[in-house]
Amino acid sequence: MQYLEIRGGKKLSGSVTISGAKNAALPVIAATILSDKPVTLTNLPDVVDIRTLLTLLTMLGGTVEHKGSVAHIDNSSINSHKAVYEIVSQMRASILVLGPLLTRFGECEVSLPGGCAIGQRPIDLHLKALEAMGAEIAIESGYVHAKAPNGLHGAKIIFDKITVGGTENIVMAAAMAKGTTTIINAAKEPEIVQLCEMIADAGVSIKGIGTNELVIEGTDGIPLQFKNVEIIPDRIEAGTYLCAGAITQSEIRLEKVKAEHIRASIDKLESMGFSFDISGDTITIHPAEHIKPVSLITIEYPGFPTDMQAQFMAVAALAEGESLIEERLFENRFMHVSELNRLGADIWLKGSTAAVKGVGTLHGADVMATDLRASSALVLAGLVAEGTTKVRRIYHLDRGYDNLEGKLTALGADIIRKKDTK
Ligand code: EPZ
Repeated sequence: MQYLEIRGGKKLSGSVTISGAKNAALPVIAATILSDKPVTLTNLPDVVDIRTLLTLLTMLGGTVEHKGSVAHIDNSSINSHKAVYEIVSQMRASILVLGPLLTRFGECEVSLPGGCAIGQRPIDLHLKALEAMGAEIAIESGYVHAKAPNGLHGAKIIFDKITVGGTENIVMAAAMAKGTTTIINAAKEPEIVQLCEMIADAGVSIKGIGTNELVIEGTDGIPLQFKNVEIIPDRIEAGTYLCAGAITQSEIRLEKVKAEHIRASIDKLESMGFSFDISGDTITIHPAEHIKPVSLITIEYPGFPTDMQAQFMAVAALAEGESLIEERLFENRFMHVSELNRLGADIWLKGSTAAVKGVGTLHGADVMATDLRASSALVLAGLVAEGTTKVRRIYHLDRGYDNLEGKLTALGADIIRKKDTK
């Protein structure tokens, strides 16, 4: 098994280029199923989750040429409508093929994704919305069997809860449905805006892009023809590097980033004493005189993202005073707490709130990554911990961070990937 070995205490400097957003690329890749013409995607991050979803397309019969950050996809040859357990169990986002497969082919089978380390993560809202659009859905032997022999029809969907993946699935399903679909209480993350713009650029009318109410006029079964898509910068990767600058009290510059997408993280870091220069698509973070404690609650965009909660906890572990961090989106997204405490942090957990008492120093130890963002928090802590930190189970990191140790090494960190000989 591979692990990362980090010798803490190095200041960082220089600049880092932010990759394309994994969570924007995944729905964009799924949306290519809506087309029977070739489409080219650029600025894809080089991460395992992207390769997994592209593999799923080829298993469905699509043709994919993928090299570096570019993929040429041709889904005219899809001849299977089944997303098998072996792929879906590797990556929950595979559920995103449900809406496009069903709306284009009138039937599909997608393995149920099951729970994961950060919580139960049901897909009931996806299924309820598809049923409202005329789908017949049965769950059998761990698979969602969905049918709409005469195609899906438009409907008024009111999501009980804001769901990113649910909104994406229904936007894609609605694009080829018959008539108008209105989604109320839609998610409005930048990744959803990118998906809507891709579909709107293919000639589908979508009103309300970037708001909580989307109105989509479907093509009644006619496949779409997409223009090429350049994936937006990864706001969570960008936020993670800002936290790397913050925790090491270093000045670093992020290139190819959209500041408006990471406003919530910048505001919180400002409240902790850090300052920023923002110009065009670059952001420079400057060290704080003293790291002040922070109080934050995770909530849907444009609020503070759950995907940045663990990284901020690592920074808060070194603040002068007590921070309060409340997780409202996922019931179990605190697995990093005990690992940060192994590094000398002082964090108490009660229900969905963590009280983080700042400590003067962290100390290197062996720690275990539990999910993607938790893993990056452990790497951040390792950058400042005295001595050596070994972060194990880094396959979580490889799912979503493009060349993390390469980028950190270029910034001056002492971090190397090693392999257990046992
Ligand atoms: C997306 O997951 C992201 N994944 C997650 O990023 C992110 O943490 C999450 O949105 C919230 O921002 C991708 O974009 C691929 P949701 P998703 O549906 O779509 C509940 C990362 O680290 N819910 O918005 O699965 C759900 O349990 C990952 O990159 C239902 O109850 O999230 C959660 O409590 C992790 N029923 C809340 O809604 C449903 O049918 C929000 O989940 C669907 C969701």
